[in-house]
Amino acid sequence: MNGDFNLLNEWFADVSVEKVLTHFLQTYKARIALASSYGAEDQVLTDMIAKIDPVAKIFTLDTGRLPEETYTVMDQTNKKYGIKVDVYCPQQSEVEKLYQMQGINGFRESVENRKMCCQVRKIEPLRRALEGLDVWITGLRRAQSPTRETMQLIEWDEANSLIKLNPLIEWSEEEVWDYIKKNKVPYNALHTQGYPSIGCAPCTRAIREGEDIRAGRWWWENPEHKECGLHLKGN
Ligand code: ADX
Ligand code: SF4
Repeated sequence: MNGDFNLLNEWFADVSVEKVLTHFLQTYKARIALASSYGAEDQVLTDMIAKIDPVAKIFTLDTGRLPEETYTVMDQTNKKYGIKVDVYCPQQSEVEKLYQMQGINGFRESVENRKMCCQVRKIEPLRRALEGLDVWITGLRRAQSPTRETMQLIEWDEANSLIKLNPLIEWSEEEVWDYIKKNKVPYNALHTQGYPSIGCAPCTRAIREGEDIRAGRWWWENPEHKECGLHLKGN
């Protein structure tokens, strides 16, 4: 199905991110939403979207294990832009079952346990968040990881059966931070403490000088496992 988007991707190749967003938001209206983890890239997109259409849908997946700094920037963002981000939480009964099966921090014991935790806390809530949508917008960038090198601006998301729009796909980390500074965008305080990529608190650590930007995510696992399933390779 990706082939069907080749022409569109070529068409939008030289169009600014703001114009791409404007086009998609106007075309899909209530059937498009930004998925925000409140990472630097998502904050850039939130700033742009709030300026284009302050009532556009933005959602976040609150896994229940996020760092305190993420809740702080969530609150700052809602207040600064006067928006209300939709928060999707995991199903209470599924979290209780997860605890019974693998304990509180069972995700450290095996990749299987970790994927089960991500399934309950992220993937299932994502499915609900995407219900009724034709397009979801993400802050993915190719330079973030080898697993993301072949991603396109516009893709067919096979796993979720809808279009995925990655407006910052070609941006560098420097471009992201230039935008944040220039536009005074609120950002997660952990970014200044060695955390370029932020997920759940127990599964994210600061990186050391010279380490890959996703080295702090699920650091105890092999690099090829380092996707939680929100963005499967080949989607
Ligand atoms: S992850 O798959 O490893 O967790 P990453 O943190 O790099 O993903 O984020 C990539 C994109 O996935 C974000 O820009 C955002 O669009 C989406 N995303 C990740 N985590 C969340 C979340 N908790 N809530 C909503 N969207 C998210
Ligand atoms: Fe669970 Fe860690 Fe996945 Fe968060 S990132 S859902 S805590 S395994």
